[in-house]
Amino acid sequence: MIDIDRLTAEIDTLAGFSSHPSPAVTRVLFSREDCDARDWMARMFVEAGLVVRSDAVGNCFARWQGRDTTRAPFATGSHIDAIPNAGKYDGVIGVLGAVEAVRMLRAKGFQPERSLDIILFTAEEPTRFGIGCLGSRLLGGALDSAAAAALEDVDKNTLETLRAQAGFSGLLSEVSLRHGAYTGFVELHIEQGPLLERDGIDIGAVEKIAAPAAFRITITGEGGHAGAVLMPDRHDAGLAAAEIALAVERAALETASADTVGTTGVFLIEPGAINSVPCRAVIEIDLRDTDLATRLRAENAIHQAAYAVADRRGVSLEWETINSDPPAICAPELVASIESAAKARGFSSRRMISRAYHDSLFMARVCPTAMIFVPCRNGWSHRPDEYVSPEALARGVAVLADVIEAQLGV
Ligand code: GLV
Ligand code: MN
Ligand code: MN
Repeated sequence: MIDIDRLTAEIDTLAGFSSHPSPAVTRVLFSREDCDARDWMARMFVEAGLVVRSDAVGNCFARWQGRDTTRAPFATGSHIDAIPNAGKYDGVIGVLGAVEAVRMLRAKGFQPERSLDIILFTAEEPTRFGIGCLGSRLLGGALDSAAAAALEDVDKNTLETLRAQAGFSGLLSEVSLRHGAYTGFVELHIEQGPLLERDGIDIGAVEKIAAPAAFRITITGEGGHAGAVLMPDRHDAGLAAAEIALAVERAALETASADTVGTTGVFLIEPGAINSVPCRAVIEIDLRDTDLATRLRAENAIHQAAYAVADRRGVSLEWETINSDPPAICAPELVASIESAAKARGFSSRRMISRAYHDSLFMARVCPTAMIFVPCRNGWSHRPDEYVSPEALARGVAVLADVIEAQLGV
């Protein structure tokens, strides 16, 4: 039996490791809160009888040892970092829910043939370094280790320095997994969209994860006195950035596909004084689509519009691609296993696409991968009022446990 009270209490405890007061959760990679939360997680992995190790970037692996150690293990897991002002379920249920699944399987006397790793991935969220899925990207071999080491946060701290301060040593080049290191990977996650709740469906079986891309544009114009510089003489970096942000919206709308989404979520202007013309602007753009070719067309349109704006306004522009990833296709046999586990328990299920990215996007590069979605209230996520009912959560954990049992038994 799943102990849902214990699981929800653990989710609440983990939510307490936050740099913003409850109900908001903010847990940025290698912050004090993140390090404390990791220590707490390590203790609870050990209490659950798991053997814990970490790699050079801080991905943490909690192993339930199977009888036959010569066989490749199966894996599950997710992330526990949280963007500023987030809720307490995103990522977290995939880690704590996996621990509960293991406890439940153990309690019913199940003895695994092959081992299971619960993976707590480092920084699925892009908050600190601007790039999402840092840990799983390295595991999946999708990020060069030298480029990773040189990543800098806004205060110019490098990943190399920050991971050492957080106690993670070893070579980043050794983080990547070889193909076949795991027989498969399944991640339990909240849907972060409204479809399951709206249609009264208990479980989503994810077949495909949309392809994300991110760009940073730095615009350098000319500053000056807001009263004295006449309008025709201006080279306002802030206004150029604003025009580009509108071009992002236009490009996403013009593909005419509901699957294209474009967001300018970071917008910084300098010097940031009311009586000074902005001399420099930095914007960060998130662009996604389930179809890679459509996303690339939108990216092209934004690129052209950005340079046209820069020309017209007499500002200079630097375009940096932070990441540009293909979509992931989930493993049909795991998707089917999720569906049949749901059916056997009398839960309704639906195949679906994940429009958010997840660590699964990169695990899919090294092993068969799929995701279990559970509904969340109003589809809300990345906000403090994110909520998953205990019943919905228990259904997700039960399906996860069944999939794990089927994988570990052979
Ligand atoms: C993950 O949090 C995403 O932005 O999709
Ligand atoms: Mn998230
Ligand atoms: Mn997440």
